Amino acid sequence: MRERTLLLVKPDAVSRRVVGKIISAIEESGFEIEDMKMLRWTREEAEGFYHVHRGKPFFEGLVKFMTSGPIVALLLERENAIKTLRKLVGPTDPIEAPPCSIRALYGTNVRKNAVHASDSPESAKFEIEFIFGKGRHLVEN
Ligand code: RTP
Ligand code: MG
Repeated sequence: MRERTLLLVKPDAVSRRVVGKIISAIEESGFEIEDMKMLRWTREEAEGFYHVHRGKPFFEGLVKFMTSGPIVALLLERENAIKTLRKLVGPTDPIEAPPCSIRALYGTNVRKNAVHASDSPESAKFEIEFIFGKGRHLVEN
């Protein structure tokens, strides 16, 4: 089944100038880019996007990191897009990532791990609406 997923190129990868390499890897893996934009989040936007992590020990560091510079968002489509992209991205910590995964190639550490990828159909729907939808973009807390 063709489905959609969201990829974010995080501030570390933008500042390391590997956006192009990451997009090439995505395209070479059969994803179609349906939409794409560069943005810089406010604290409220970062907290809203990552609301599921509120209260976790890494939340504050994650929000600071994700607001530290511009990010690039891609709306992607292919067969089995969500699982395929998570596999291509690799595990959260680049040290545990298989050699050819995006996080192994371009990530620095467990926080500065180059990219975000939606992890389920529910989160993909929320995240695509959050970034590319025309509705409300902030989650009430
Ligand atoms: P993502 O949501 O960005 O695709 O990453 P993920 O599913 O692999 O990892 P998740 O558990 O959802 O964590 C979200 C992001 O928070 C940062 N993080 N820092 N121990 C730490 O310092 C820590 N753990 C997670 C990472 O940027 C991670 O991608
Ligand atoms: Mg996640």
